Amino acid sequence: MNKETIKIGILGMGTVGSGVSQILAQNGKDMEHKLGAALEVKRVAVRDLAKPRGLTLDPSLFTDNIDHVILDPEIDIVVETMGGIESARHAITKALENGKFVVTANKDLMAQHGMELLAIAKLQGKNIFYEASVGGGIPLVRPLKFCLAANRIHKIMGIINGTTNYILTQMSTAEKEFKDALAEAQAKGFAEADPSSDVEGRDASYKLNILASLSFSSRINMEDIYVEGITNVKLRDIRYAQELGYAVKLLAIGEEGEGGLKLRVHPTLIPHAHPLAAVKNEFNAIFLEGDAVGEVMFYGRGAGSLPTGSAVCADIMDAARAIKNQIQNGIVEATFVHKPVVPMEEQLSRFYLRLKAIDEPGVFAKLATAFGEARVSLDKIIQKRSVEQTAEIVLVTHDVAEGNFTHALDSLRAMPSIRSINSILRVVE
Ligand code: NAP
Ligand code: HSE
Repeated sequence: MNKETIKIGILGMGTVGSGVSQILAQNGKDMEHKLGAALEVKRVAVRDLAKPRGLTLDPSLFTDNIDHVILDPEIDIVVETMGGIESARHAITKALENGKFVVTANKDLMAQHGMELLAIAKLQGKNIFYEASVGGGIPLVRPLKFCLAANRIHKIMGIINGTTNYILTQMSTAEKEFKDALAEAQAKGFAEADPSSDVEGRDASYKLNILASLSFSSRINMEDIYVEGITNVKLRDIRYAQELGYAVKLLAIGEEGEGGLKLRVHPTLIPHAHPLAAVKNEFNAIFLEGDAVGEVMFYGRGAGSLPTGSAVCADIMDAARAIKNQIQNGIVEATFVHKPVVPMEEQLSRFYLRLKAIDEPGVFAKLATAFGEARVSLDKIIQKRSVEQTAEIVLVTHDVAEGNFTHALDSLRAMPSIRSINSILRVVE
């Protein structure tokens, strides 16, 4: 028996939830035509019923009790756009156990508990759709699950946090220091009131977890991902990087090689000619390398009400198709294995280093010796300027194991002629 009306319950009516509501109001008829079934929002749960919403939704649909949504026997699809971990985890589990399909935009939850929730969905013969959890409106989850499924993916690399890309763009184009660029991102609504997850790289690491597990068919623990945010990136380094021919971007990188998976998020110098260097402001872009397809790049708005709502609504349509056509589930994650991860100290990187040293004869020679003894080969070394007998030195290494570079740094810190080590950033060619 085909269902003619698919009923939806929404948990959360903030930035993403209101985008979903707006798209359903604007394009609902087209969506229904494509589906051959009607879509109806039956209930909406929020925290604060008194908050003005400015939406076309009937106020009588609103409740402040999540159970009114997830236990409603008429609701077919529960859309979770409230965020957070424990309430969302509990609500999704209960919704699945009550026979609902689930759509979520929650990357924090899917990165940390996705496998457990997908296993519950599989057991219930349902599914969880999470396209909006990575890259906002950019299709990534579905291409990885379906369109590129015949490939072995060697590498994924991208800009997957809009807030930090906005901040780094403003630092480089408007010559702003980090804290001023962050304040502007907050004023424009890109960065949240508590931007720590974005600027400390955690948001990108959750998204990398989701992308890497789909790309490499592996379960990934958050501890397997090296994470460094942009809070220590200085305008001075962005200027020097520009002089050297690089842009600074917060990159998420996942690779599969002989030793296992390499997973990391960190601010990175990339050549101006690299396509990721041209990705500005709140935009996201992701490169994939598959053995059959070659290089593929995805680009678009990685955050915001309507772009993220676009991905959530597409997932609602997928869930509606499964319900209408009585497809039990399409879970591919159940086949995931646990692949080994290469420790960060064994991974190879090029490094950019800025330090201050006493401006006296023999300092360059001492630096070269310390690096040589740690088996670190230097590509560029430049003395930038000298003030009151202190020289600022910028250098870039060739590829080096992180562990060897750390040894070289230990030697430099012990040298009396080195005044301070001011910045360390990785470089990708
Ligand atoms: P938001 O603007 O803070 O909205 C959260 C909504 O959830 C609010 O309506 C809030 O109610 C409601 N809520 C929170 N806790 C609740 C609870 N315990 N019970 C009932 N309602 C509750 O958040 P958002 O930016 O839309 O983000 C939602 C999710 O989407 C997060 O997982 C986020 O990571 C993800 N996401 C966001 C974006 C983006 O661009 N913002 C992009 C991709 C993914 P009140 O309105 O009453 O406070
Ligand atoms: N805070 C996130 C970002 C929102 O800036 O990219 C989208 O997930």
